[in-house]
Amino acid sequence: MRLVPISIIPEGSILGQSLSDEQGHILLQRGVKLKSTFLQQLLKRGYTSLYIEDAFTEAEVVEVYQPQVVAEIIAVAQSVTEQLGQPQVSQRGVGEKISRLTHILEGLLDTILANPDSVVHLLTLSSFDQFTYKHSLNCMALAVMLGDALDLDRGSLLNLAMGSVFHDMGKFFLSKDILLKPSKLTPDEMDCVRRHPRDGYDYLKKASQLLPTARIMALEHHEKWDGSGYPAGKRGDETFLHSRLFAVCDVFEALTANRPYRAGWKVSEGRAFVISGGGSHFDLDIVREFARCVNPYPLDSFVRLSDGREGVVRQVKRGMMDYPDVEIFVENGRAVQPYVEMLAKSHRVVVEAAIDEFSVRGIPLVSEG
Ligand SMILES: [Fe+2]
Repeated sequence: MRLVPISIIPEGSILGQSLSDEQGHILLQRGVKLKSTFLQQLLKRGYTSLYIEDAFTEAEVVEVYQPQVVAEIIAVAQSVTEQLGQPQVSQRGVGEKISRLTHILEGLLDTILANPDSVVHLLTLSSFDQFTYKHSLNCMALAVMLGDALDLDRGSLLNLAMGSVFHDMGKFFLSKDILLKPSKLTPDEMDCVRRHPRDGYDYLKKASQLLPTARIMALEHHEKWDGSGYPAGKRGDETFLHSRLFAVCDVFEALTANRPYRAGWKVSEGRAFVISGGGSHFDLDIVREFARCVNPYPLDSFVRLSDGREGVVRQVKRGMMDYPDVEIFVENGRAVQPYVEMLAKSHRVVVEAAIDEFSVRGIPLVSEG
């Protein structure tokens, strides 16, 4: 499947990823044929892009997050947040919720680690409700994948996952006017935003069953390697490894995910931004590993090569992410009999850009099936 802006999706394309509401109810099932009325309604609801399957898609993508699981995590996390906001915190109530969450996250770890290629797909989930939680879940999958690549043990990965769920908890105590303000924030509003890591840390301290990792990640996720972050301006490895790792995922996800009415950056663009911040905003060792395991050109996506040919990404190997196998469909401005170009072998041609559609019309876009 591949991600395509709704404005250019032809009627009759097959939906590649189920869409659900915040309760986990399916709005549109994976596999349905998209009618133009559906597409118009989705645009109105704030969606910008959808995953589709068509004549060009081949890759089998696992849906790492089943809608019901997402809904349950959000419900449990919301309940913990509400309970911690009470003057008298019921430690038993919070403890039960955290045990439940631990159990769900344990299962998710296995799914994420078994399907690293699918992780980048969920990072562009279209969402219009509760995007703070959805952002947290997207970051979590990426952080777990990166933590595994950095050889963190399973207990550390679980802590990382738990910390990801609650990292922005301080934001729930921010006024909605600030949180959802579409225009630039005033200096006073910015000060409020910059308090959310400390606020989150203070609230999470009230949950005695939660390991310290989670609250430290909440406190440190906006710190930067060169000391230019907040709230404390910590430098280098003064921050905890989990926080440094998470900071990379947080920024990448914020750039690449679709938000209501705003399409995200392409994965290759977000990845390039993170790489450019290695050694300044981010820990360079973590960024190197990130570059090694985040695929800039997801399977089935369209790309243009440096020699002008256009095609579909078919295979990518770890450590060779910038040199995928590409099935060429357009050459010299014309549709050609498709063939596969292995960029890792040629060394002459590179991917120039991810594109939404081919420059040549007339290549069949809708599957006969
Ligand atoms: Fe944050």
